[in-house]
Amino acid sequence: MTPEEKLGQLTMFPGASGQTGPAVPPAADSAVRAGAIGSFLSIYSVRDTRRLQEIAMQSRLKIPLLFAFDVIHGWRTVFPVPLGMAATFDSAAAARAARIAAVEASAAGVHWTFAPMVDIARDPRWGRIVEGAGEDPFLGSVMAAAQVRGFQGEPAMLGGAAPPSTDVLLATPKHFAGYGFAEAGRDYNTVELTERTLWDVVLPPFEAAIRAGAATIMASFNEIGGTPAHGSRWLLQDVLRDRWRFGGLVVSDWTGVAELIPHGLGDSATVAARAIRAGVDIEMSSTLYRNTLAAEIRAGRVPQAAVDSAVVRVLRAKHALGLFDDPYRFSDSARERRVLLTAEHRRAAREIARNAIVLLENRASGAAPTLPLRRTLRSLAVIGPLADDPKSALGNWWGAGKPEDVVSPLAGLRRALPNARITHVRGAPADTMDTTGFAAARATARTADAVVLVLGERQDMSAEASSRASIELPGAQLALARAVLRAARAANPSKPVVTVLLNGRPLAVQWLADSMPALVESWFLGVEHGNALADVLLGDADPGGRLPVTVPRATGQVPIYYNHKNTGRPAAESNHYTSKYIDLPWTPLYPFGFGRSYATFAYSDLQLPAEGRTADSLVVSVTVANTSQRAGDEVVQLYVRDDAASVTRPVRELKGFQRVTLGAGERRTVRFTLRPAHLAFTALDLRRVVEPGSFTVWAGGSSAATLEGRFRLSGDTVVVAPAPPAYR
Ligand code: GLC
Repeated sequence: MTPEEKLGQLTMFPGASGQTGPAVPPAADSAVRAGAIGSFLSIYSVRDTRRLQEIAMQSRLKIPLLFAFDVIHGWRTVFPVPLGMAATFDSAAAARAARIAAVEASAAGVHWTFAPMVDIARDPRWGRIVEGAGEDPFLGSVMAAAQVRGFQGEPAMLGGAAPPSTDVLLATPKHFAGYGFAEAGRDYNTVELTERTLWDVVLPPFEAAIRAGAATIMASFNEIGGTPAHGSRWLLQDVLRDRWRFGGLVVSDWTGVAELIPHGLGDSATVAARAIRAGVDIEMSSTLYRNTLAAEIRAGRVPQAAVDSAVVRVLRAKHALGLFDDPYRFSDSARERRVLLTAEHRRAAREIARNAIVLLENRASGAAPTLPLRRTLRSLAVIGPLADDPKSALGNWWGAGKPEDVVSPLAGLRRALPNARITHVRGAPADTMDTTGFAAARATARTADAVVLVLGERQDMSAEASSRASIELPGAQLALARAVLRAARAANPSKPVVTVLLNGRPLAVQWLADSMPALVESWFLGVEHGNALADVLLGDADPGGRLPVTVPRATGQVPIYYNHKNTGRPAAESNHYTSKYIDLPWTPLYPFGFGRSYATFAYSDLQLPAEGRTADSLVVSVTVANTSQRAGDEVVQLYVRDDAASVTRPVRELKGFQRVTLGAGERRTVRFTLRPAHLAFTALDLRRVVEPGSFTVWAGGSSAATLEGRFRLSGDTVVVAPAPPAYR
């Protein structure tokens, strides 16, 4: 290979945004023919992928191309956004959705998805909180591994003897690392993290994804304490390759290599040399590698081996997919026609979407709870700017999803209540203070038998480059909610009024929580949003979703998360001089893991050994009973606290969860195994250890669980992992 051909393999070009979607950029054909491009992102039609492969076969070396796309939560069958998927607390659901996405996208010629996004996020001002699994590293790790297995199938992609079937995608845990800790929740902003937070909170989901066999990984835009990830040999070599033995591909995030210039690390040649030496294999979208590295190698500032090892990893990925044998094996129009948006895929999307819905409030309206709504309703007012917004229901990163495929909340309710007179009034836009629609909203709220308000954020108010300085309801929506509730209850004090939220981040909805008869969190649920919502609102499905993120009372509380430290002055009402506010409670509006059900559950009989050894595992069991007259879903959660250790430890951490469906009156004993890896933490010397001492355990339906037990570990401190290379 010539130097130019080698650097071509390290260059990924983006598709150009065309009228009907991403199109092939004009310069692509000649660059492919010259061997100057090795992969594309955002080009995915069978026609375009086949045509570009044909051109690659005309190049001197006939190296096939890789095609990548952000298949984040579905392809043509769009599933709940990842934050909603996390609310299912069901890793099998996450794996199933990823598997279906791989089956669909691979038929269009896509080989590689830039997912799962595994960034832990504690700041809902950050728009990309929607793309991950929330604030908890245990839940995040389980969801990350499940998605990798779903996308890649089994066995691990780059180790398999024979090329995998063609319904798989290379997975890419991203963004490595710490991106979710952007200061002030402002996207792309500086990150300051201690090594202990890196190892105990940020890195576990990445390690879990790699243990699950992830074939590639994407570097993050941010710096960590002075070193941008794209220039961090500590992250990309010491941690990723040396400690985790990762053998796959590292791809830049967009122009992350070129962004080392504004980060202040030097000119084009300097930063390209920095990135390739740090371990970024493929440069996406910018072309510093192709333009400068040949000269950098000749000048002796970049070892040839740095380029060659990256090229080998690219070629190995192409070989693992069988593309050298048959470059066209993925692009299959006949298969594409068979697999896109099938009835079975829609059923899966509806079931998973139902399970992502979180019931936050369900007060009485008259003699009965507000929800489920009666099927005998003669009339229903559906009010709000998001009720008939199919694009928002798709969420962000909608893949090949189409608004016309979506069942909106309004459409879902119409289908579920064919005999009711359903009136829809937007009432207010999602984002402006225009209140001219209030009168019509009040009028229909007065006359209808029940009201469903659909409020929240449009899908373009979260995800990338969409941080908000306030996490309150945008525009005049809160005023609309007040006006509608007042009008509805003036006409009938027992009228059911339900507020459904569509949103990509936790919203500080204190007034809704205090005042609404019923409040439902529905995230962005994808193509089956409306049907899933109707299933829950009418009682055909029980709302078993639980919060994967803490919901603040106000923006000013942020960052607020359940697995916080106790501090030397933990908040106490009785003591002014403790860690709290003078103008707001210090507690969240809703805690991590919270959600109600139409059923009710009771916990008892928490069983665990009083004593154990630091090197051993121990089994914890708890009995959960459905104390209601109807079946329901519950997520049984196990939390643990290391009561005293050589460094401060969180007040509690999730160490197990299991979603169960219990029939009326049914009881079930749920068992969890706590292994040393569950109790390990990063000690003063940065080794991962389990120390002897006492531990407290809680089991229940949220991070506020009160059923408590204790055990004591004796024995020596156990080293679960040696100290990592010191951060640099
Ligand atoms: C974007 C995102 C990243 C995505 C990539 C390709 O900037 O940060 O998540 O995979 O570019 O679209």
